[in-house]
Amino acid sequence: MRNFTSVNDIESIKRAIENAKYVKENPFADQHLGKNKTIMLIFFNSSLRTRLSTQKAALNLGMNAIVLDINQGAWKLETERGVIMDGDKSEHILEAIPVIGSYCDIIGVRSFAKFEKKSDDYEEVIINQFIKYSGRPVISLESATVHPLQSYADLITIEEYKKCEKPKVVLTWAPHPKSLPQAVANSFSEWMNRTDYEFVITHPKGYELDEKFVQGARVEYDQEKAFEGADFIYAKNWSVYQDPNYGKILCNDPDWTVDSRKMSLTNNAYFMHCLPVRRNMIVTDEVIESQQSIVIPEAANRVVSAQAVIKEILLGL
Ligand code: CP
Repeated sequence: MRNFTSVNDIESIKRAIENAKYVKENPFADQHLGKNKTIMLIFFNSSLRTRLSTQKAALNLGMNAIVLDINQGAWKLETERGVIMDGDKSEHILEAIPVIGSYCDIIGVRSFAKFEKKSDDYEEVIINQFIKYSGRPVISLESATVHPLQSYADLITIEEYKKCEKPKVVLTWAPHPKSLPQAVANSFSEWMNRTDYEFVITHPKGYELDEKFVQGARVEYDQEKAFEGADFIYAKNWSVYQDPNYGKILCNDPDWTVDSRKMSLTNNAYFMHCLPVRRNMIVTDEVIESQQSIVIPEAANRVVSAQAVIKEILLGL
C-alpha cells in the first residue's frame, strides 16, 4: 500500500479484517518496522480520536510521531495557485507540503470539506496536493469526502459484535445544529458496500448522498421502517450534498433522533457513532448509555485500523 485515502487502497475486505485481527492480538509485534521512522500528522481541523489513536498506533509500531495543528502555531496557508498573497496567509501550501515531506517518512492529513466550492471538496484538492507534492505516502485522517480510518474501525467493530454472517446494518441521518461534511456517511457507505452485509441508508428527503458512495444501496426514507430487524444502527449527521443546497442544513427534525422506542424496532441492535456525538440531538442519553451502545469499543478500534494501515505502508517503504 502506498497511500490510504479510501477503501480502494485496501487489497480486500477479508484481508483488511485479518490484518486488523493480527494487529489487535499482537500490538507490539512489529516495532522493528517503525524504528527510526517518523510520521507527521497534519491537522487542518480539530480532532480527539484521530489525533490520539494514530499517534498511539505509530508508537506501537516503534515510530516517532509529530503532530502539527495548521491553525494553531503554523503559518496560515494559501491553498489556491495564482493568488497574489497580500492577505493574512504567509505561506503557500505548495512550499509547505514538500518541506513537511522532507522531515518524515509518512504523512497523515486531516482536511475537511470547506463548503466553498463543491468541486474542490469532491475532487479532494488538499489531500491530492499532499500526495502529489510531498514525496511521501499519505494517510487520510479524514478528507473532504471520506474518513477511511473511521470506516475501517467501524468494519472491525461490526465483525467483532455481529451475531450472524450477514447482519443488517443501517446508516441513519440524525439532526445536528451545524453543517457537517458528508465524509463519514460517504465512507461508511463505501465500506459497507464492499461487504456482504444487508446495508440500508435512511435519511429525510433532500439529504441524498453522492451515488459514487451509495452505489445502489437501499435508501429508505421511512426511518422506522429502516430500523425494523436491524442488527446495527450507525447514526450520523451530514449536510446536503445535492445542488443548489450543498453544505446546507435543510431540516433538523427532532423526530430523527435515535431513541429507545426506535431501537426497540430493531433486532436488539447495537448502536454506533464515530464520535464526537451531540447527545439528545443525534441520540438520547438512554440509548448511548445502554448496554447496546458500542461507541467506546468502536473508538478504541481506531488504534487498530490506524496501526494496520501504517504497518502496510511501512512494509512497502
Ligand atoms: N471520529 C473521529 O474522527 O473523531 P475525531 O474527530 O475526534 O478525530
